Amino acid sequence: MKNSILFSSKKLGTFKASNRIVLAPMTRSRTAQPNDIPTDLMAEYYAQRASAGFIITEATQISAQGKGYSFTPGMFTAEQVTGWKKVTQAVHQANGHIVSQLWHVGRMSHASFHADGLPVAPSAIAPDAQVWVVGVDGIGRMLDCPVPRALSKQDIKEIILDYRRAASNAIEAGFDGIEIHGGNGYLIDQFLRRSSNKRDDEYGGSITNRLRFVMEVLEAVGDEIGANKVGIRLAPFITQRGMDDAEAIDAILLASKKFNEMGLDYIHLSEADWDDAPMVSDEFRHALRANFNGSIVVAGNYTAKTGVDLIDTGLVDFVAYGRKFLANPDLPYRFGHELPLNEITDTSTLFGGDARGYTDYPNYADTKSVN
Ligand SMILES: Cc1cc2nc3c(=O)[nH]c(=O)nc-3n(C[C@H](O)[C@H](O)[C@H](O)COP(=O)(O)O)c2cc1C
Repeated sequence: MKNSILFSSKKLGTFKASNRIVLAPMTRSRTAQPNDIPTDLMAEYYAQRASAGFIITEATQISAQGKGYSFTPGMFTAEQVTGWKKVTQAVHQANGHIVSQLWHVGRMSHASFHADGLPVAPSAIAPDAQVWVVGVDGIGRMLDCPVPRALSKQDIKEIILDYRRAASNAIEAGFDGIEIHGGNGYLIDQFLRRSSNKRDDEYGGSITNRLRFVMEVLEAVGDEIGANKVGIRLAPFITQRGMDDAEAIDAILLASKKFNEMGLDYIHLSEADWDDAPMVSDEFRHALRANFNGSIVVAGNYTAKTGVDLIDTGLVDFVAYGRKFLANPDLPYRFGHELPLNEITDTSTLFGGDARGYTDYPNYADTKSVN
């Protein structure tokens, strides 16, 4: 495995990834409260995983309005930027590279995060979904998302400015780039799909209109920090969270041509969310490769072998690993030496909590010295 393509370097944007194994973005909800500030513990967690070709952070809200879950980090206050600096410094000291995943959840949110009790969305349609909210009793629960408020055109302009400011903040915080979260049923995805976007202005209706929001976001952040520091995550195949739209694939393929013209750094496909894993057709992979000259990253239930096999086809460049990397901070080492993997031991530690189930998963070398 050590000699496989998984361990070959590749240039990405402004840095060179030393391998093709990426830490997939994973929300872990461990910010300091109040105000959702990244901590020393988060710096330790990411630095432990710095042997990845590059790290994509957990989703990070661009504004207070963009928040949908308890304890997720932000990128819109000076305190948050200072917190993130500790994370980027720790990763860089460990010779890693790290990009910030920026999100606005749109309607995937809860009344308690909004002064007027209303999340926002392209149209006033509730998702069939729940978000994780910690109550005043300190207990986290999955709660229904309410019917959101439809955005005005002025609101849309302000959100695009929020993306621009968050991108600028991410660079100030020392990130090597950003990934715009355009998948998994969040705001950008809500604009993209007919099921969640019923607007009759220039942001709704035709595919071109439904792509207008994401294009304006990418133009703004590309203008702010350079398109070669910008990737985008998309989830063409999801149907849950009220996102079912057979036209999503066509929309995303058309978008990929536009992303190419803009000179985006990479497209990241979220192929399987947890175990909802539709097969991705070869036809789609070939079409995406033909449309887009940047790098292609994939994620979703990959093993070392399936990752190598797919990169070997020449259709993708990087494979992001979520749960395996969560439980194995030294995942590239384990893959390279074909060593056994730790499993996630306690799912109650996935979201929120302390070092347990977060920074205490052992490297292989540590288990050897203990035994
Ligand atoms: C605990 C957890 C949190 C996640 N949070 C995010 C997130 O913040 N942003 C995102 O785009 N995907 C998120 N995902 C999805 C992962 O990035 C990845 O696509 C998914 O886990 C499938 O990959 P895997 O089979 O290698 O775990 C999360 C997944 C897990 C397990």
